[in-house]
Amino acid sequence: MAILQRNCAVLLVVVAAACVELYQAQTSIGRCACPKVQAVKGKISDFQVLEKRPSCDKTELIVTRINPDNSTQKLCMFTEGVRAKRLLSCWESINKNETRKMECIDRPKMAGNSTTEK
Ligand SMILES: *[C@@H]1O[C@H](CO)[C@@H](O)[C@H](O)[C@H]1NC(C)=O
Ligand SMILES: *[C@@H]1O[C@H](CO)[C@@H](O)[C@H](O)[C@H]1NC(C)=O
Ligand SMILES: *[C@@H]1O[C@H](CO)[C@@H](O)[C@H](O)[C@H]1NC(C)=O
Repeated sequence: MAILQRNCAVLLVVVAAACVELYQAQTSIGRCACPKVQAVKGKISDFQVLEKRPSCDKTELIVTRINPDNSTQKLCMFTEGVRAKRLLSCWESINKNETRKMECIDRPKMAGNSTTEK
């Protein structure tokens, strides 16, 4: 009888562990950092690239924007835009080196040289 009880207890633990695993898998599937993206205008002070990963099947770009009142805001940037593409290709070209990130940001020169942001 004692043996049976022990087996039951073991089984219970195994089942519980499996449930926890399943639960975690479910909550991480499709978990991208950005529920939605937007075109980001204005000055940005930082950015973060989240590569494709098991829990999210797209590359995400999170930028820190400086608002006119100097407050900052983290925004998920629309990655198909010209600006985002340039950031991403710059990021690749510096080998994703965090310390050189600013090289990708400190370039307000737009392709058309029409807007001079300040
Ligand atoms: C924003 O920061 C700049 C430089 O620090 C300062 O001159 C300006 O007054 C600030 N503007 C606001 C709205 O706080
Ligand atoms: C990143 O860039 C800095 C400055 O150019 C360099 O000193 C450093 O070794 C680089 N780090 C990596 C991981 O490439
Ligand atoms: C940008 O345009 C202005 C005015 O058309 C011109 O004077 C300036 O040289 C241009 N700058 C660059 C970097 O092309």
